[in-house]
This record gives sequence, structure tokens and C-alpha cells, in this order.
Amino acid sequence: MPRPFIVGNWKMNLSLQEARILATALRKRLVGVEGVDVGVCPAFVFLMEICSILKGSGIFVGAQNMHWERKGAFTGEVSGEMLKEIGCTHVILGHSERRHVFGEIDQVINAKLRLAFALGLRPIFCLGEKPEERESGRTFQVVDRQLKAGLEGLEIEEVSLLTIAYEPVWAIGTGKNATPAQAEEVHSYIRGLLKKAYGEEVSSQVRIQYGGSVTPQNTAELLAQPEINGLLVGGASLKEETFLKIVSMAMEQLRSPI
Ligand code: PGA
Repeated sequence: MPRPFIVGNWKMNLSLQEARILATALRKRLVGVEGVDVGVCPAFVFLMEICSILKGSGIFVGAQNMHWERKGAFTGEVSGEMLKEIGCTHVILGHSERRHVFGEIDQVINAKLRLAFALGLRPIFCLGEKPEERESGRTFQVVDRQLKAGLEGLEIEEVSLLTIAYEPVWAIGTGKNATPAQAEEVHSYIRGLLKKAYGEEVSSQVRIQYGGSVTPQNTAELLAQPEINGLLVGGASLKEETFLKIVSMAMEQLRSPI
């Protein structure tokens, strides 16, 4: 079973001072955490500072996006090489807000995934259906398309290093999380697609996180699902206590799986 991975997606939140305080607290309180991987994804402008606060702590730092080209005339954009240079190890790609607010299409996300691997960054590849797609029974169809288009042309070794975050759009920031059964159903479907395309061994190494209104209240039951290997946490990752509670519940889960 892949090692659980809990990631805080800070989005466009926190001041520099708040980000510093949160990262410093996580560093202090997550010393010696075992069995669970933890990461945070601050806004671009805070990455360098947070990388330096968390250096050597074992807590991963990721960006929330990157450009699909290595460099060039792309005003306002940030390259993967820049992220590597300042110490980021991970990058969230294809987040639903990138897809639906900024119009990122599958092909763009695929180009970003390929480049992230080429640069040695570990992508957290997000996908998930919109409310109307679920209501009209197209969840599997959408996830199938997003997964296949996103992974197009990746080497099998790259796929095995992937973290996928299943984030139903209707659950993000709404306070209405997918039920553990709803999430598990889609996670199993994703695992099945990976198995078919890349074989049992590779598919069993891919970490599939759930994201969308995760809180300490629903963490245990979500993580109790066999195909949920971690969580991508938005709102609840902005407060030290709630995020640490989620991480400690993930550790608890390892000790005594339900
Ligand atoms: P949320 O966000 O936990 O605030 O719903 C999750 C995400 O968008 O990654």
C-alpha cells in the first residue's frame, strides 16, 4: 500500500507573516512524524521563504501551478526550473480552479505533467467532475478522459511516481464533501484504469488522494477507504490545529486501520 500523503493547498490565502507562522509551527510539531508524508503548497511569492523554513524538516513544499514551457516570453508565469531552484519538490497540476476559472485544458495539463517529470518535480495531478457532470451520470466518463489525456506520453516509471488527487468540483470549498463511498467508487475506478494501462505493480504504487471539503470530522472515514491514499486539503490546511489534527488522524489510521 502506498504511504499516505497529506497535502495542504494554501491557494491564494495567508499573509507572509501568517504563512511563516504556520510553516514554523508545522515544522516544530511534525518532528519525527512517521509513516505519513506531509506537504504544503503556498502561493508562489512565499515559496522561497517557506522552503527555507521547512528545509530539512521532511515536510515537502510544492507550488500550486507552473508553466508548460521551460522558459521564455510568458509574462506573469513561473517555470518549473525556477521552482526546482528554490527547493520545491512538488507541484499541483490541473487543479479544478486552474481548469475551470483559468480555462486550462487537458492538453495543457499533460504538457505540464511531462515537463514536471523531465525536471524532477513530483506532480500532484488533480481531476474530478463538475456537479452537472455527476448529476447526468458522466462522472466516470469525465475522469476517464482527464486521466488518459493527462497521462498521455508519460513513461511508466513516471506514472509510478505520480500522486493523483480526485477532487469532485462540487465538493471543493463547499463544505459538502463526497461521502467515503462516493470517493472510494471513483478512486477504485481510477485504480482500475491505471491497472489496465500500466499493470498491477505500477497502479498499486500511484497515490490517489481525495480532496474537497476535507476536515478533521471527515478525515478518518475517508482514509478508512482502501483506495484513498491521502488527502489534498484546502481550507482546513490554513489553520495549524485543523491541519495537524488531519495529519495525526492519518497516523492513527496506520496504527489501527478501521
Ligand atoms: P477545500 O479545497 O478543502 O477547501 O475544499 C480543496 C482543494 O481545492 O484542493
